[in-house]
Amino acid sequence: MLSFGYTPPVDITKVTGKVIGLGSHRALQSKTDCEGIITHASRSLAEISGFTVDELIGQPHNILRHPDMPDTVYYLMWQEIQADKEFFGVVKNRCKNGDHYWVLTRVAPIMQGDEKVGYTSARFTPRAELIPEWEELFEKMREIEGDRNSSDPARFKPAIEEVNRFVKRHGHSSLSQLVLSARA
Ligand SMILES: Cc1cc2nc3c(=O)[nH]c(=O)nc-3n(C[C@H](O)[C@H](O)[C@H](O)COP(=O)(O)O)c2cc1C
Repeated sequence: MLSFGYTPPVDITKVTGKVIGLGSHRALQSKTDCEGIITHASRSLAEISGFTVDELIGQPHNILRHPDMPDTVYYLMWQEIQADKEFFGVVKNRCKNGDHYWVLTRVAPIMQGDEKVGYTSARFTPRAELIPEWEELFEKMREIEGDRNSSDPARFKPAIEEVNRFVKRHGHSSLSQLVLSARA
């Protein structure tokens, strides 16, 4: 869920501005319960994020959030995965020490028969040359997102329109297509 009310156990406003690469790590994985509480984290995710696996498990997934990320990205993510669809997005995540890393993320429901038991996610390296335009897009989205304290989803509309224009400008018909084309 778009986790209004979850307070991450770290100060997510503390950032260094320093970007780190994923190196040889192939996929950074995590799983959550249906509320977005981390139930599994790969060693690679722990290594890159600077948290230990034990520090990640049991925490809301916004423990990885970077303050530069627009709320709208997570709104779109939760809209899709709560409707049992997969979501592809580009995400800037904050490390424990305030550094950051860019990933191309797939998030999808975990089904057991007809029942959804949680969500799974894997993160890959995006093409480095694309990062400046995603950075610019996110900055613009944050500018036009409505009041953070409002629970009215209408506040996301201008930023969603901005994403749609970005997707179209890049010659794609959906955000998923565009994101998949951005894999290094
Ligand atoms: C499987 C899964 C993986 C997620 N991965 C991330 C992630 O890597 N970084 C992140 O900031 N949020 C991630 N989220 C979204 C968070 O749960 C949360 O919605 C987001 O950080 C915004 O939180 P906030 O509105 O409380 O600030 C993930 C959610 C799920 C279900």
